[in-house]
Amino acid sequence: MKYILIDADTGIDDSIAILFALKRKDVRVVGITTGFGNTNARQAADNSLRLIQLSGVDYEVPVAVGATGPLVGEWEGPVPHIHGHNGIGDAQIPASSQQPLEEAACDFIIRMAKEYEGKLTLVTLGRMTNLALALQKEPELPRLVKNVVFMGGTYHAPGNVTPVAEANIAGDPEAADQVLQAGFDITMVGLDVTQKVRLTAEHIEKLDKYAAPENRPIVDYLKQAMPLYFRFNRQQNNCLDHCPVHDPMAMLTVVDPALVTTRRMPARVECGGNFCRGMVVTDLREYPMDAQYLNICVDVDGRKAVEELLTTFMD
Ligand code: RIB
Ligand code: CA
Repeated sequence: MKYILIDADTGIDDSIAILFALKRKDVRVVGITTGFGNTNARQAADNSLRLIQLSGVDYEVPVAVGATGPLVGEWEGPVPHIHGHNGIGDAQIPASSQQPLEEAACDFIIRMAKEYEGKLTLVTLGRMTNLALALQKEPELPRLVKNVVFMGGTYHAPGNVTPVAEANIAGDPEAADQVLQAGFDITMVGLDVTQKVRLTAEHIEKLDKYAAPENRPIVDYLKQAMPLYFRFNRQQNNCLDHCPVHDPMAMLTVVDPALVTTRRMPARVECGGNFCRGMVVTDLREYPMDAQYLNICVDVDGRKAVEELLTTFMD
């Protein structure tokens, strides 16, 4: 069994990653923490609670609200043109009677790391602010958790918010650099792989046809949420009814590491600069700079990844 704590800015791709994890028999989601990004942290928590209920998962998944902005500077605000006004593509899914915890996300992360000592994988799908705050309170965190897998950054692919930076890292570079240098066993699932894995309108049609009956609410949700995400990707990236698979790819990497090829490289996050703030700077020199080594995903079996994602929702 894989024990996972998900930290998300619960938007459309986060929601698919969350539903995928909740449907896996080999995964136990010990909780979800939320932060700012695609939407605000409270809305992200509300979305997460609705998704937990929608999934029909048969155990309790606590949700804790986290950071409302980055460690340095101000949050630029949500992105309704990508993720809708509610963060989940303006899809209407039933509200949950479950409430978020009173406990702050960073405290919940520390508590779960201690409860599942040595067994917990932290999967971050948004800014790393909650994890950085947890580290500041509990510097032993890298020893307490098994590993960290994060969606974010890019090694060779172009950035998606600046020429060289990806949104989750650019949204809080200081937090990301603190986490990357803290001593975790850490895997970067960045744009080099997420851009190579494509979810298409045909895939949603296939799900509509073959999804297990108990997953019908999930398919109905995806049919509501995905058109906005496809439209953004069409306008922004000339994608005709397809989109990259960002956050679900991080979850897929956790459940099936053989899907990706990784390379160990020392890396820092650029926290200054006019053009490169938020860039993940890797050092391939023989005598590299003093930086922590990351497992960076450099390639992926995209066809297999999508099949594994979709079949999880099928009979
Ligand atoms: O760059 C893609 C990432 O930014 C994804 O996690 C998406 O949900 C947004 O947070
Ligand atoms: Ca995300």
